[in-house]
Amino acid sequence: MKQLAKYNQLFTEYLEQNTRIPEPRNLYEPIQYILNLGGKRIRPILTLIGSDIFGIPPEQALPAALAIEIFHNFSLVHDDIMDAAPLRRGKDTVHSKWDINTGILSGDAMLIQAYQCFEVYDSKLFQQLVNLFSQTALEVCEGQQYDIDFETRNDVTENEYLKMITYKTSVLIGCAFQMGSIIADQDKKEQKFIYEYGKLLGIAFQLQDDYLDAFGNPETFGKQVGGDIIENKKTYLYIKAEELGNLSQVKRLHQLYSLKNKIDNSGKIEITQQIFNESGATEATLDTIKNYTNKAFDIVEKLKISDKNKKLLIDFGIYLMNRRV
Ligand code: IPE
Ligand code: IPE
Ligand code: MG
Ligand code: MG
Ligand code: MG
Repeated sequence: MKQLAKYNQLFTEYLEQNTRIPEPRNLYEPIQYILNLGGKRIRPILTLIGSDIFGIPPEQALPAALAIEIFHNFSLVHDDIMDAAPLRRGKDTVHSKWDINTGILSGDAMLIQAYQCFEVYDSKLFQQLVNLFSQTALEVCEGQQYDIDFETRNDVTENEYLKMITYKTSVLIGCAFQMGSIIADQDKKEQKFIYEYGKLLGIAFQLQDDYLDAFGNPETFGKQVGGDIIENKKTYLYIKAEELGNLSQVKRLHQLYSLKNKIDNSGKIEITQQIFNESGATEATLDTIKNYTNKAFDIVEKLKISDKNKKLLIDFGIYLMNRRV
């Protein structure tokens, strides 16, 4: 998607101008490392788009965009510790390259840096932005806790799963958009619509993340394929396999996911992938991704923005659905 490159470049230049490595190096180097690994930069781009579509130059949204990208990267550093993940964006995770304590403290510092980004806004804007940001950040923690709690539960329902991913992932995508609309001084109604758009896309986004975690191409995905399976994550694929699978498939799945020793995964990934495919769970997941993306598209019609900008939002949703990383 061509327009994304423009926003990405604007953001990356700003990021480079606003990050540095003071002392102690062991605190700040990991921060620089994770931020420079790049990634798709979806959230900051959405904040820039969120103000641009309402007629405010995206430059004004750069500090908020930086806040959300630093927060996102902070959450990844801690998430990778919690998920025992070795790889991130094709490179070692922070806690693998340094150690767990470094990951915890550098992550903490990033959360503080994220808040500092808002200090450039006047007090009215500052308050609105920080209000939304704090609410969202707390919800992300709640979602992350559900995610961990679900690892050891065998009765997670589809609704519980959807609530978990709404909190851990979707609200931040909604927040990214809404911050742009706050900077563009939009009324509450427009703000809610754009937030809802992001939230629905965010659900599709996390479902796609689950799908790629199980079936992504290890050469290009950038994370350990099968990581969720090793960690007994109750993803949508798992929940659908429980629902759609025959008795023996479900029994086998429960057996595999009761393995406490997460290191002994000989054959676990391949057998689980096979059960996901043969039970119809994979197809059901891809269908649900489409459904949530379409639900999001319905909201675009309600926004008071130009047709060109509506198309930008739709193209973005299509881009997310087709992504492979
Ligand atoms: C990864 O987010 C964490 C999830 C919420 C799934 P992204 O897929 O946006 O990660 P990067 O920033 O592009 O690496
Ligand atoms: C991550 O979910 C959500 C947050 C970081 C808050 P995942 O654990 O699925 O993200 P990845 O797959 O490690 O990127
Ligand atoms: Mg993870
Ligand atoms: Mg996780
Ligand atoms: Mg994942």
